[in-house]
Amino acid sequence: MFNRLQQKWGVSTRQFWIIFIAFGLTGTTAAFLTRYITGWLGFDANTHWGWKLLLRLSMLLIGYQALLLFYGALLGQWSFFWKYERKLLEKLKILKSQKPKAPTYRGGQQPPTSIAIFASGAGSNARKIIEHLRDHDSIRVALIVCNKPGAGVLAIADEYGIDTLLIEKERFFRGDAYMPELAARNIGFIVLAGFLWKIPGALILAYPRKIINIHPALLPGYGGKGMYGMHVHEAVIAAGEKESGITIHYVNEKFDEGEHIFQSSCPIEQADTPESLAQKIHALEHLHFPIVIEKVILKDRSLQPTANS
Ligand code: GRF
Repeated sequence: MFNRLQQKWGVSTRQFWIIFIAFGLTGTTAAFLTRYITGWLGFDANTHWGWKLLLRLSMLLIGYQALLLFYGALLGQWSFFWKYERKLLEKLKILKSQKPKAPTYRGGQQPPTSIAIFASGAGSNARKIIEHLRDHDSIRVALIVCNKPGAGVLAIADEYGIDTLLIEKERFFRGDAYMPELAARNIGFIVLAGFLWKIPGALILAYPRKIINIHPALLPGYGGKGMYGMHVHEAVIAAGEKESGITIHYVNEKFDEGEHIFQSSCPIEQADTPESLAQKIHALEHLHFPIVIEKVILKDRSLQPTANS
């Protein structure tokens, strides 16, 4: 049960227990305060039940929520609890929902292509893509898919108000690969930005030439299983290469073997280390990845028939 809840909240195990403690402290303090106020107001067996109910309701709707924010902030979980309260206030129609309403399209107009970014790490590429496509007429980042509770990319999604989906291995590889969730959001393209799991065959079939990955080296060199993150840069430096770079490619059923879309290189100096190379590569990724994604999707859209054609 705890695991499910943790997945639902999209938090790390440490964060989960802190949140749990915050709820516990809030419940205990709220109960204590209710008793105290009851005594202070002089409530007894003869007090009308309506007053008692009013006190309990106000405690639940105002006191409890305020305490939750207080303990949440005290334990460093302000953003989680604020999001929690926001949802509640939106449900009670006290705050307006932040989610943009689905626009309507006139005949012949193509609705924007929704993309899902799959990422497991810090999410610096995801951030660049989100920023590049923000306010785009034809493309919108609709979902961040992540397999690691507490990953940096989840906080980025939160910052930009983008839906997140925390996935688990069993369902991804041996279940429906979360296709219903992707279909529900009408996802047309998938972008892998530091996603370490292999993409299941079912997804590749469902998204032909619509899954794009970025690899931090010049493929076909330094790709394949186990070649990710710093492992790639360490191998490139150890081999004494004079240059490295990035490869943006379509995803097929084999690791890093899909058709190339774009490559860009950078020189490796004598003094370069895996860390300094990683920085150069990140800079290349941030510069090119968002633009390449945009171009690929716009080209794909231009090939789609519209309602009028
Ligand atoms: C990037 O270097 C990308 O090439 C690789 O994973 C890394 C993700 O970095 N596939 P970040 O999480 O976007 O910072």
